[in-house]
Order: sequence, then structure tokens, then C-alpha cells
Amino acid sequence: MTADYGNEWQTRFGEGWHGSGETPDLPWLRQVLQRRTHRRFAPRDIPEPLLRLLLGVAFSASSKSDYQQASVIHVVDRNRRDRIAALMPDMPWIASAPVFLVFLGGARRLERIGEMCGHPNDNRRLEGFFNATVDAALALQTFVLAAETAGLGCCPISVLRNHAGDIGEILELPDRVFPVAGLCVGYPAAEGFVSMRLPLAVTVHRDRYDDRDLAEAVAAYDRRRAARYAPPRERQRAPAIFGYAEFYGWSEDKTRQTAGEPEGATFPAYLRRSGFTFD
Ligand SMILES: Cc1cc2nc3c(=O)[nH]c(=O)nc-3n(C[C@H](O)[C@H](O)[C@H](O)COP(=O)(O)O)c2cc1C
Repeated sequence: MTADYGNEWQTRFGEGWHGSGETPDLPWLRQVLQRRTHRRFAPRDIPEPLLRLLLGVAFSASSKSDYQQASVIHVVDRNRRDRIAALMPDMPWIASAPVFLVFLGGARRLERIGEMCGHPNDNRRLEGFFNATVDAALALQTFVLAAETAGLGCCPISVLRNHAGDIGEILELPDRVFPVAGLCVGYPAAEGFVSMRLPLAVTVHRDRYDDRDLAEAVAAYDRRRAARYAPPRERQRAPAIFGYAEFYGWSEDKTRQTAGEPEGATFPAYLRRSGFTFD
């Protein structure tokens, strides 16, 4: 069977679908190609059994060496949620989402189990931190895809890592259990929009890494993306530092973002205080 994913591909990448030969017609793949983050939610509760089901699906994600180092805190208590939301007042969806979860990496559990079994281990090195982070990220994205399949919308929140000390206190995180991202979940109140991605010519390589054509590919992507949506002049980042650009594409926006105030500046110190050595 040959299915045509042309519409979805165009929406995601802003360019044509060149598939040929056998491509099965799978509605879920169409759904993922059109997936989007949601930040506005309807005032409608998520049934508890559905939430539990989605969490079960999330924890069905692959796990490095079966170590299972991800955890989630469902923030139910209004006071704790409000304290978290107050740290990031420019993201009101943290307070308004019907459900707020925090996905955690945790090197601690494996250490404790090692002690219980009489096989103490050092999970404080970079390897322990990295494995736990990857597990949490996989659980997060598995939750997102499952939730979207159930008609829900989500918005991950990594900005809470800029406030890791406060988050650790509010959620009573023990040493070596750290936030990877929050997650706002609810029934979408708006359709939202598909965010165009870089072409596979940039992100997929054959046999060896080759970014020779990066400049041309990014310039073309900037133009495709801006043709669909060009941020108005007042949305240009940090004009006091960078001025106003005649053409303000994705690359201008993202490089201004990363060249500006560094994100996560306090996170390394927080992690070291919690015992990670990163050796
Ligand atoms: C790990 C991670 C952290 C994110 N953190 C935030 C955040 O703090 N605030 C926010 O509004 N969106 C956040 N997002 C959402 C991204 O901005 C969004 O995924 C991106 O713009 C692409 O849009 P799309 O998901 O609709 O394709 C985050 C996404 C990921 C994967």
C-alpha cells in the first residue's frame, strides 16, 4: 500500500513529501506529524483513571539498562502549584492547566537499592546523571504522545530548572533527584499551530555526519517558516542588544535566545550540592 503523507509533511516541514514505494497508511503517524504544544486549556477536568492510564503508558517508555530512573510528581496541592507558578509569572499556563506534572531524573533510587542488596554503587557520575535524564525525557515524551492520542494537549516546562533550588524545596526533592521538566496537561482551548521543523536534509545524515550545506539549508528553512508566520517587529528578542532585523527568521530568533541571558545558570551548582560529581 502506498499512502500519501503530503499534506502532513508540508505542514511539518514546509516542503513536499518525496515518499515513494510502500508507506502504510497509519493515522497515528499523521497525528504525530501534526502534533503541537498547547498552552491554553478548557476548564475541564481530566478523569483520574485516564491520567493513571497515561502515566502507565509513560512509564512503558524504554529505559537505559532497565534501571528505571524516571519519576513523576503530580502536583495536586494548590498551594504548592501556586508557589511553582509564581516562580515563572510569564507562563500563566503553569497555574491554569488542569493537571501539572513534574518529570524527574533520580540517581538516588539505584543507589538505595544497591545498599539494600549489599552492592553499593556510585551513581553520582555523569553517566548516572545522563541515564536518569534520558529516562525522564523518554517518559515525558511518551506521556505527551499518549495524552495527545487521548485528545489532550501538553506543554513541557523546562524553565523550572532555572529555579531548581526553589522547586527542590517546594517538592521536597531529596539529593540526586532533580527536575527535568514540568508538564501542563489539559483539554486544549484552542487549535494551536504546527511548528515547522528543520528539513531532514539537516537532521538526518547517511553513514557520516555532513553539515556542509547547513547555511543554505537554514536560510531556506528561515524563508519557508517566515512565509507561514513572520513574528511582528515587537516580538523580536532583545532589540536593545541586537537591534531590529529587517528579516527576522528562526535562526535569528534562536541565536538571539541562546546568546542572551544564559538559561539554567544555577542548575550545575544545584546538582553538585545534591551530590553529583559528574566524573
Ligand atoms: C524539554 C522541553 C522543555 C520545554 N520547556 C518549555 C517551557 O518552559 N515553556 C514553554 O512555554 N514551552 C516549553 N516547551 C515547548 C517548546 O517550546 C515546544 O515544544 C517547541 O516550541 C516546539 O513546538 P511544538 O511542540 O508545538 O512542535 C518545552 C519543550 C520541551 C521538549
